[in-house]
Amino acid sequence: MKFTALLLCVTLVAAAGFYTDDPNVFELSYKNFNEVVYNTNYTTIVEFYAPWCGYCKKMEPVWRRLGKFLSRDSQYGVQVASVNCDEAKNKPLCSSFKVKSFPTLMTFRPPKYKRGVKKTGRHVPEPYTGQRELAPLVQFVTGRIKNYVKRFHRISAPAFPDWLNEDLHKIVVLTKLNSISPLLKTLAIDLLDTSSVAVVQMDSPKLGLTVKVNDVDVDVPVEEGDQLPVLLVYNKESKSFTRYPKLKLKNLHKIEKWIATQLGVTPLEGSLSTRAKRLSKFRGSSAAHDEL
Ligand SMILES: *[C@@H]1O[C@H](CO)[C@@H](O)[C@H](O)[C@H]1NC(C)=O
Repeated sequence: MKFTALLLCVTLVAAAGFYTDDPNVFELSYKNFNEVVYNTNYTTIVEFYAPWCGYCKKMEPVWRRLGKFLSRDSQYGVQVASVNCDEAKNKPLCSSFKVKSFPTLMTFRPPKYKRGVKKTGRHVPEPYTGQRELAPLVQFVTGRIKNYVKRFHRISAPAFPDWLNEDLHKIVVLTKLNSISPLLKTLAIDLLDTSSVAVVQMDSPKLGLTVKVNDVDVDVPVEEGDQLPVLLVYNKESKSFTRYPKLKLKNLHKIEKWIATQLGVTPLEGSLSTRAKRLSKFRGSSAAHDEL
């Protein structure tokens, strides 16, 4: 296979990186690989490729679509990256991951972060051997976003007010689902140093719902017939919830902007972070990161 591809593509040996023009894909080298892939609580999926390889060429449009899909509305804590293993200087990097055929697809999952505990774990590389199509790739990689979202099965759970009282800002999402969406996992990662996020399961909101926090009945600003999910921030001083005014929880960029105005926090990762700005030079163009 490789031999045929080599024959077909021999004229393209000196081609530049596939994704150097793509705003949604990090075209990495041995120089910036660690900074982008390891210095983050995001999961990264990397395509190790060679420009001459036929399967890599088939992969290219899929990879671009994957990058675009995962960047939309900033809702996925996943970085899409590539390494051109044909570049002499990148070869040691590629062989350190035992890349033997192209393309090799690999996810890098960050270690679990614990406050106050010195980082001990390492990112775990995991090869992707499934179908090279958008849907299975999205499913695989979004399933590898670290989860820092806490879950309460009902709002009357005794542990819920205790959690509200703990340090860090509190963001609460009332939801019907018993699974945690990639968007909420990503929100929790972006605000890991300042805020914690929890989901509280409920079937349908009711007027007059309260939570007892230190003997004070705190109103939950929902009404009968409200659509779920509903996102709230908790203010400890005034013992009150404030509700995110938009109906849908789809655009994480907008949600984080609103949270920033409510809590005065700045995300460390994601579209509003200085990290994103700093790393945009490793992507095709920063145009896509302008106002969403
Ligand atoms: C994960 O997030 C925490 C809190 O912001 C940060 O201290 C830590 O360095 C991050 N981990 C990595 C691997 O970047």
